[in-house]
Amino acid sequence: MIMTIKRPSGPKGNLLLGNLPQFSEDEPTFLLENVKKYGDIVYFRLAHVHTYLLGHPDLIREVLVTQRHKFEKAPLDKQILGKFLGNGLLTSDGDFHRRQRRLAQPAFHSKRIHNYAEVMVDYANQLMDGWEGKATVDITEEMMHLTMLIVSKTLFDADGITGSGDTAAAISNAMHNLQAVSNRDYQRGFSLPNWVPTADNRLRNKAAAQFNQVMDQIIAERRKTAVNGQVADTGDLLSMLMLSVDEDGEFMDDKQLRDEVATLFAAGHETTSNALSWTWYLLSQHPEVEAKLHAELDSVLAGRQPTLADLPNLPYSLQIIKESMRLYPPAWILNGRLALEDAEIGGYTIPKGSTVFVSPYVMHHLPQYFDDPEAFKPERFTPQFEKSLPKFAYMPFGGGVRICIGNAFAMMEAQLILATIAQKYQLALAQTDPVRYNAQITLTPENGIQMQMTERETAVTPTPERAFA
Ligand code: HEM
Repeated sequence: MIMTIKRPSGPKGNLLLGNLPQFSEDEPTFLLENVKKYGDIVYFRLAHVHTYLLGHPDLIREVLVTQRHKFEKAPLDKQILGKFLGNGLLTSDGDFHRRQRRLAQPAFHSKRIHNYAEVMVDYANQLMDGWEGKATVDITEEMMHLTMLIVSKTLFDADGITGSGDTAAAISNAMHNLQAVSNRDYQRGFSLPNWVPTADNRLRNKAAAQFNQVMDQIIAERRKTAVNGQVADTGDLLSMLMLSVDEDGEFMDDKQLRDEVATLFAAGHETTSNALSWTWYLLSQHPEVEAKLHAELDSVLAGRQPTLADLPNLPYSLQIIKESMRLYPPAWILNGRLALEDAEIGGYTIPKGSTVFVSPYVMHHLPQYFDDPEAFKPERFTPQFEKSLPKFAYMPFGGGVRICIGNAFAMMEAQLILATIAQKYQLALAQTDPVRYNAQITLTPENGIQMQMTERETAVTPTPERAFA
């Protein structure tokens, strides 16, 4: 095989920082415009990092599937995310990651996560109870709060609403600070060692200590329930993680459990929350879509609370969520992939030590896969269209062996929350400032989204007392 050493073309950058200044101005747009201009593979430099951006599904398959053993998660992502997620599923690599993924997989078995449907609906109802008497809410904050409560309940059975210590809120506060510091590290393009006494490091260290303390306490209490080394199964994800054994019969130790729980907590709520926030915004801008959604909910549910069994009968709700995540994929870019050796991709050599970018945002906005790509058209997501789409043209959950482990959990959650809330309320945009994204670790509405809630006519049956445990 002839290996070419030619570099793909790409935008010119300055001597010192390369293209970092343009990239930082608006990351998703910078990436999309350069794929449109230069084609399926684009080269640029972000300070000292030689970067190859892929804009074709076949090339993405090479990196995520066919030649995946030549890549691992990039140092910047490991460094920044690793500071609060340790060596959890998102940041670990190689054999260790494979072992952990096998151990965590049973917790995400469909039978298990289906038990969480009621929790999701109940919490959405409790959230709406708090809306009574309020004219407007910041829907981004509301969705974040809701998905945080759901992940706390399903992950470690913490009840943030009625729990005495309000564990969920304490963890959430710590997690919020950890994420804020990490976002700033990404903007800077580096992260100073934890011992350097900067304001951000102090904030991070304090938040990490708070988070670890609560988690250690939760894990220790679970250990106390053990009979013959086996903890009790309380139905949540943590129980399953604690009950899983690897091929050598080994359980996860406490430190590893903490890293996995932190990872699931962090990866498992802001993403879904953003997917929902963007969905409410898009619905408010497209009354014809909203009307069709209401018609579907009214005809299928007729005022009843949605259940897991209803989801297959709510196809339009699902199409709305898919289209919303196409336009605003919460994970707008995958973690960078570091080339561990030279790799030939698309006729070019990606040299050892360089970084590969794969961006769901870019793929989802390319006109060759999505006709009229900037338009919000849930109708496009027919089963036929999905079948005809090349794999990796639509990839809100990534792909290959590192595809999101919470994919089915998140889709179920988003569809149930959409159905529960849209059945009861109509949400309208209540701000004149334009709604813009901020491409942080996730694609977040920049200053939140103020929305006005109007109760719909449909009578909704009150929620009975329920809990999965
Ligand atoms: C709409 C919601 C979500 C979106 C868009 C999303 C997106 C993603 C993406 C794109 C990746 C791959 C990252 C990469 O390859 O660099 C990923 C990985 C991951 N996600 Fe999600 N996610 C969502 C919800 C969740 C939920 C609910 C959980 C858990 C409860 C979760 C846990 C994880 C974990 C642990 C990984 C790492 C998997 C591995 O590398 O083995 N995510 N997610």
